[in-house]
Amino acid sequence: MKIIYVNDYDEMSERAATIIAKQINQAPNSTLGLATGATPEGLYQKLIQLNKQGKVSFKDVTTFNLDEYVGLPHTDKNSYRYFMNNHLFDHIDINRNNVHIPNGLADDLEEECKRYEAKIKEIDVQVLGLGLNGHIGFNEPGTSFSSRTHLVSLTDSTRKANSRYFQKLDDVPRMAITMGIETILESKRLILLVSGEEKSEAVERLVNGNISEDFPASILKSHPEVVLIADKAALKRLNVQNELVC
Ligand code: F6R
Repeated sequence: MKIIYVNDYDEMSERAATIIAKQINQAPNSTLGLATGATPEGLYQKLIQLNKQGKVSFKDVTTFNLDEYVGLPHTDKNSYRYFMNNHLFDHIDINRNNVHIPNGLADDLEEECKRYEAKIKEIDVQVLGLGLNGHIGFNEPGTSFSSRTHLVSLTDSTRKANSRYFQKLDDVPRMAITMGIETILESKRLILLVSGEEKSEAVERLVNGNISEDFPASILKSHPEVVLIADKAALKRLNVQNELVC
């Protein structure tokens, strides 16, 4: 895993946008794996700017989102479908038929997981954020490294962390659909974005800890093409000056 040290959130977003724009410009029909949450918002803003400036086109790009809550309609501003429309898709020239997000309202959720998994084409670049407990997607600690797209019960820690977007903790869904860890690892390249002091313990554990299902993100260290772009605050417990390979 290569670590890129950046000063702040803006620089993290800029570096990630540059990698993605380059990927699309080299292969206009690229497939991207996308995340939601606070971390990639800046990246999506930068991609919108690049698109508006005519520096990158999403016309032939396909996207697969990592996850979606169970039970929230698309019109609910906390659904990941709504988030993606609002933060990215409504503002770029992507063909909506090429946008894929698990359907958390499916009658048969197990069937929906199978359908989604079968649809996923090889992902060229997967964007990931890091949960405080090391989750990637909604793969919580203890999830098998050989998991495929599946239904999950969210941990209290994750529900609490995400409750900042909801009126109250009780409103946070208890279940979600997520790409599995093996699904994520099949991506050709992965970009893990981390910003802020709050994540510094998780980053330290990721870099210095063992590869273990107790800390899902640790498996990323076994992938040959992973770049962690982290800011100064997130890296404060580690001695990284510029770039490091671990
Ligand atoms: C969201 C996702 C999650 C988040 C993680 C960090 O699609 O897959 O794993 O990346 O919970 O969330 P933020 O960025 O809000 O700190």
